[in-house]
Amino acid sequence: FPLASLNTFRLPARARHYLRVEGAAELEALRRHPSLAALPRLVLGGGSNLVLTRDVDGIVLHMAGQGREVLGRQDGRILVRARAGENWHGFVGWTLAQGLGGLENLSLIPGTVGAAPIQNVGAYGTETRDVFHSLSAFDMASGALHTLTAADCRFGYRDSLFKQPEGRALVVLDVTFSLPADWQPNLRYAELARAVEAAGLAAPTPRDIGAIVEAIRRRKLPDPAEIGNAGSFFKNPVVSREQCAQLLARHPDMVHHAQPDGSEKLAAGWLIDQCGWKGRALGAAGVYPKQALVLVNLGGATGEDVLRLARAIQADVAAKFGVALEPEPVFI
Ligand code: EPU
Repeated sequence: FPLASLNTFRLPARARHYLRVEGAAELEALRRHPSLAALPRLVLGGGSNLVLTRDVDGIVLHMAGQGREVLGRQDGRILVRARAGENWHGFVGWTLAQGLGGLENLSLIPGTVGAAPIQNVGAYGTETRDVFHSLSAFDMASGALHTLTAADCRFGYRDSLFKQPEGRALVVLDVTFSLPADWQPNLRYAELARAVEAAGLAAPTPRDIGAIVEAIRRRKLPDPAEIGNAGSFFKNPVVSREQCAQLLARHPDMVHHAQPDGSEKLAAGWLIDQCGWKGRALGAAGVYPKQALVLVNLGGATGEDVLRLARAIQADVAAKFGVALEPEPVFI
């Protein structure tokens, strides 16, 4: 089964088997299947956080369940639920159109609702965990249907239980979000605060903020419909305060953000940019000219091309700054 159109990097790869999953019924049938049950599984949503470096010698579970609803109010919050296969940006727009705030900073992120908790999707100062209530997941090991709370999901920066070995048997079926009934804009991210200020709105609504986030993203990030990519290719590295101070002595203009635990988060895009990689290519894989953190398929790239470019960038950043860059998408 060809996967090129099911991953936003548009890398060529095939899967031995493919199953379109609407809900628990298909997963239960797969679990009981005499031969397919034992195969390695790749759970796929929008395929926007995936680097396919080879064929999938197993079964792709394409999460396709659609549906979204407002569940009602609870303790000053509004609960909304969507099924895993809903397009993320479509879901965000649906909440904003009803005047519900909370997801606006996460506008225009590619992918599906079911994928958002896997890597605790975040942008412009909001992370999935900030607006998360619970999710339902099917356990491929036991066949049980579980409800997981935020604590169960063990969210971290671009991380969760579902990326750990203990979470691998869980397939997310739907996600419930907890939105504030009494909404305030979250303008902690300086670039967003500046853009909102520049728009000169007296009392911006969630929808206004969503439109501004969209405009920022369209300015710096490639549209996967036009240029194959998987968003940020590396995580922003976290270093100790001491290492950060040493680096600042040599690079006074280095971008860094103090973390609550005293460590410092560096901007991987800045580090890559400083190594001169912005806009450069290696074969058919390139570094996006407007945002060095995004690797792109210039046309006909293979997973190997992307890996080669990623390794070259990692080597240069390690040599210049002594910082290890960790890839952000899932690798196959
Ligand atoms: N920078 C450069 N050169 C570049 C790119 C960035 O100098 O080529 C500098 C910028 O000037 C800025 C800093 O690096 O001072 C940070 O850049 P930016 O605000 O664009 O954000 P980012 O750290 O590159 C992160 C997320 C994005 C998210 C944005 C906004 C990660 C790995 N990436 O990017 O998430 O949209 O912040 O919140 O945390 C994604 O995960 O796929 C993604 C796009």
